[in-house]
Amino acid sequence: MTTGSATTAPKIDLLDAASFADGQPHEQFTWLRENDPVHRHAEPDGPGFWAVTRYEDVRSVGRDPATFSSTPSVQIPDVDDGGSLGDHQMMLMMDPPRHSKYRKLVSPFFVPRSARSLRDRTEALARRIVDDVIERGECDLVEDVAGKMPSYVIADLLGIPLEDGRELYRLTEAVHAAPETVPEGTQLEAGLRMFTYASELQARKRAEPGDDLASHLLAAEVDGHRLDEMDFNLFFMLLIDAGGDTTRQLVGGGVQTLFEHPDERRRLQENLDDRLPLAVEELLRWVSPVVYMRRTATRDTELRGQRIRAGDKVVIYYGAANRDERVFIDPQRFDITRSPNEHIAFGGGGPHFCLGSHLARVEIIALMREILVRMPDIEPAGTVTWLESNFISGPRHLPVRFQPG
Ligand code: HEM
Repeated sequence: MTTGSATTAPKIDLLDAASFADGQPHEQFTWLRENDPVHRHAEPDGPGFWAVTRYEDVRSVGRDPATFSSTPSVQIPDVDDGGSLGDHQMMLMMDPPRHSKYRKLVSPFFVPRSARSLRDRTEALARRIVDDVIERGECDLVEDVAGKMPSYVIADLLGIPLEDGRELYRLTEAVHAAPETVPEGTQLEAGLRMFTYASELQARKRAEPGDDLASHLLAAEVDGHRLDEMDFNLFFMLLIDAGGDTTRQLVGGGVQTLFEHPDERRRLQENLDDRLPLAVEELLRWVSPVVYMRRTATRDTELRGQRIRAGDKVVIYYGAANRDERVFIDPQRFDITRSPNEHIAFGGGGPHFCLGSHLARVEIIALMREILVRMPDIEPAGTVTWLESNFISGPRHLPVRFQPG
């Protein structure tokens, strides 16, 4: 991983997944924040975009949906659905006031209200996940440990079997895979299987509603209308998707970060119960699993002296903002007791601020504690492979070994 500051412009290609091949390109980000904080970036198959890297600007763009819209896409390329979605859209790609109406339907399930029972449940899941590998003395921490937690937790919330959650999560991975890395037709097939699962779930939950998020969504109304089949399916896919890679990358990337900072790791393990909550905030800042979100300008405007035109793509880089020396003291230092720590790994507080931030923290704390208590001697045991993505960052495979117990 590269850190520190450069005095001359480094080669900047924020589209190439290779730029994120061993962590985020912090040297480039540092240079951009300092020298070109609203940078015009070329896009070989598109019109180009503005790369925004300072904390203050990332926040202000994310908080102004009237000027910086989440429609048509929050990723850099426009997605061509061939018209199949019609007027339907995932909430992540909607703007207020429509967005607020949809978000209200699910937000009651994500507030800290039921903190106690959620904690008990996630702790039980963390035990089960570590039980499954502890006798082996080695595993792939990302695949066998970190990835299980979010898929189990969202399955619980939706009211479906845990193993179905795991399978659905694998399907979202196939949907997101770079096309050249999977056999032709895989992505389409995975998408169709998810849709079929969601449609069958609707039928089941309509016949036998339960006290779960899926049943609640089926009974909910927007502007006096029940959600139709496509609305439900898109919600379902967003919920499975949004909490999966993000939480997995944070835990996998988190353990990897502790390997790279043995002194901080020792400080954490010496006093785990007291230090873990702050350490997790620092891991969120440090790893920033969501690299960016894109917005699209709705009108001509200006940002740090750059003229942005209506229709321009504006990309806000959370990982860059989270190392901004204007906000964080010694930002390139990983400090498990950093306080205050106003990182924006979950977004900068606009209408799309991560719906699952509370849930994610509870999951991450439960799982990190279980790992460090039951595998106190955990160490790397092979080559780390990084996720091939410019959108989500972190290790995809992290072989580890530990004392079987
Ligand atoms: C949105 C990060 C875990 C559900 C977001 C956004 C970010 C983010 C950066 C966009 C914020 C914005 O545009 O202002 C993360 C990180 C996570 C995590 C770093 C874990 C470490 C979760 C979990 C869930 C979840 C566990 C649970 C299902 C969502 C949803 C949205 C969202 C539904 C869209 C909200 C909307 O459009 O209103 N998240 N997230 N996330 N997140 Fe998370």
